Amino acid sequence: MPASACLMNPMTCSSVNLLLRIALPVGCADSSLLPWYGWRVAGHDVARDAFLNAAAPQALPAAELAQRYAQLAAEALQGGAPSSSAGGEQPKFSAHVETPDGPRHVLVKFTLPEDNPVTARWRDLLLAEHHALQTLSAAGVPAAASRVIDHAGQRFLETQRFDRVGALGRRGLLSLAAVEAEFVGGAGAAWPELTQRLATPAANGKEAVITPEAHAGATLLHAFGTLIGNTDMHAGNLSFLSDSGRPYTLAPAYDMLPMAFAPRASGNLPDTPPPVHLRGIVPAATWRQALALSADYLGRLRGEAGFTQGFGRCVEGLEGVWREVEGRVGRMG
Ligand SMILES: Nc1ncnc2c1ncn2[C@@H]1O[C@H](COP(=O)(O)OP(=O)(O)OP(=O)(O)O)[C@@H](O)[C@H]1O
Ligand SMILES: [Mg+2]
Repeated sequence: MPASACLMNPMTCSSVNLLLRIALPVGCADSSLLPWYGWRVAGHDVARDAFLNAAAPQALPAAELAQRYAQLAAEALQGGAPSSSAGGEQPKFSAHVETPDGPRHVLVKFTLPEDNPVTARWRDLLLAEHHALQTLSAAGVPAAASRVIDHAGQRFLETQRFDRVGALGRRGLLSLAAVEAEFVGGAGAAWPELTQRLATPAANGKEAVITPEAHAGATLLHAFGTLIGNTDMHAGNLSFLSDSGRPYTLAPAYDMLPMAFAPRASGNLPDTPPPVHLRGIVPAATWRQALALSADYLGRLRGEAGFTQGFGRCVEGLEGVWREVEGRVGRMG
């Protein structure tokens, strides 16, 4: 990013600087610009050089993918793979691979290479996440492109990274957790409550932090997640893209799955989704849209042969929730 762009877009610039502050040695500043921009320009110049001279990463060939994923998973579990550091609780690694869409940077979540009821449930959940992302994409709701790869009893959920462009390019991604901490300070509130505040221009005339479309999209994802038993919609599981500065746009959906069925620490495997609380902040039209999406989702789960038998009860539980919520949404008029 040229220095002038930094001035016009301080938020994007400061995220770049934060990365560079960690990565750069002291003493490489461009002194002619220092009076204006301080040490930050050093990062800009060095990063640009590094970018211009970087070798394009080689994509893992499709034929070797499953075996390489098993290796990368083993390394990630040992903490050995330097590219395995995406946030989140579940084990994962990143890779650059040949996909049916061409070479792509991907994030890969995986199950342990063991066969027991707990790993079986995680296999079910990775497949359920794949179908949730597919359901959204098929309906025109932006969601990470995904595929499931099974190998030697292990399941891999690969999602294409939407914060990468081509082999070397990046897009600025800001989590709702980061954005709300900076601009709202309402940690723990539901997505639509936070995004409504972020989409509202400040009283002093300052423009809104996110677009109205980002708020509408977050509200729909919240409603869909509520209907499919996603009990893990924390502020790290929704993000914004900062391509052209503020107001930010909504990033594609990710980490959308019925976490209500995740194994408990005790080893218990829940199969009953929690009761649904219909938040009044979500418009009736959005609940109806989410009902249509979740009906499609449940149909996909029903038609999927790759789930364990036990997961059938989870799907039945979600169908019961769906029917009950449909009745209540009908009352909204
Ligand atoms: N397709 C993607 N493209 C770019 N970034 C992504 C993508 N999927 C996930 N991420 C980023 O990686 C982080 C971890 O991914 P994800 O939320 O799916 O993992 P998790 O372990 O299930 O998280 P949690 O702790 O919420 O359970 C996300 O918070 C998001 O910042
Ligand atoms: Mg997550």
